[in-house]
Amino acid sequence: MAYENIIVETRGKVGLITLNRPKALNALNSAVLGELLAATKAFDADDNIGAVVLTGSEKAFAAGADIKEMQSKSYVDVYLGDLFSGWEDFTRTRKPIIAAVAGYALGGGCELAMMCDFIIAGDNAKFGQPEITLGVMPGMGGSQRLTRFVGKSKAMDMCLTGRMMDAEEAERSGLVSRIVPAGELVEEALKAAAKIAGFSLPSVIMNKEAINRAYEVTLAEGLRFERRVFQSMFALDDQKEGMAAFVEKRKPEFRNK
Ligand code: HXC
Repeated sequence: MAYENIIVETRGKVGLITLNRPKALNALNSAVLGELLAATKAFDADDNIGAVVLTGSEKAFAAGADIKEMQSKSYVDVYLGDLFSGWEDFTRTRKPIIAAVAGYALGGGCELAMMCDFIIAGDNAKFGQPEITLGVMPGMGGSQRLTRFVGKSKAMDMCLTGRMMDAEEAERSGLVSRIVPAGELVEEALKAAAKIAGFSLPSVIMNKEAINRAYEVTLAEGLRFERRVFQSMFALDDQKEGMAAFVEKRKPEFRNK
């Protein structure tokens, strides 16, 4: 597929997707969604890829859903078109996706970052849900995911006042996993992704699945799910290899089996 709004590259076993609508600060329109879904599906299907990094520019990860595309739509348009439901597909990506966020991650941009598996922030990152200033509210998961990640008080504060959170506050609040200098952001995220891609792919995906489960089911169900998945890992050659390598004091050679 020829991409017009994103740049798709590979770096070893890592897929790198860069949002590329600089004139609109990477605002997310339906074309961007279509291309992102195609790129993540292709990486999921590619046996040579073990993890993906999604990034934007140093000024903006993404400044939100495209306001100009939404502006004139009627209720019936957005209801019958089920506006933003397509983003659910993005969260079905099986391989880990790291969001590398520099600059603005606002509205849908913040929501897209939260749909990824974890967020590494550049020290200039700014997160916000400013939809209230447009007369609306988050529509791509912000009211739900932000609340789970940073708690009710901060989620209310951000969604009701529209204020932005800087990288320090985002790390303190658990929204991002770590902060790095903005100039080194992509390299650091690629390093983390390469580390993940060096492990056994089935165990990576099972880890991801189990952690995501924690947001959907009760603790008792989640613990049962974890135990069953953990037990099933003893059917993997890579479990034998990983444990043998530890005992034999050598590096494991995982074969994704
Ligand atoms: C469409 C956008 C955009 C967006 C920026 N642009 N954000 N276009 N949708 N979300 C465009 C601007 O119109 C402008 O185009 C160009 O990008 C550069 O933006 P500026 O505003 O000139 O840049 P700057 O002064 O540096 O300010 C940066 C900014 C500001 C603070 C990020 O652009 C801003 O506030 N953007 C909107 C943020 C927002 O409200 N996001 C939430 C969207 S709603 P031109 O052509 O004029 O040069 C959303 C909700 C989902 O995501 C669910 C609700 C329904």
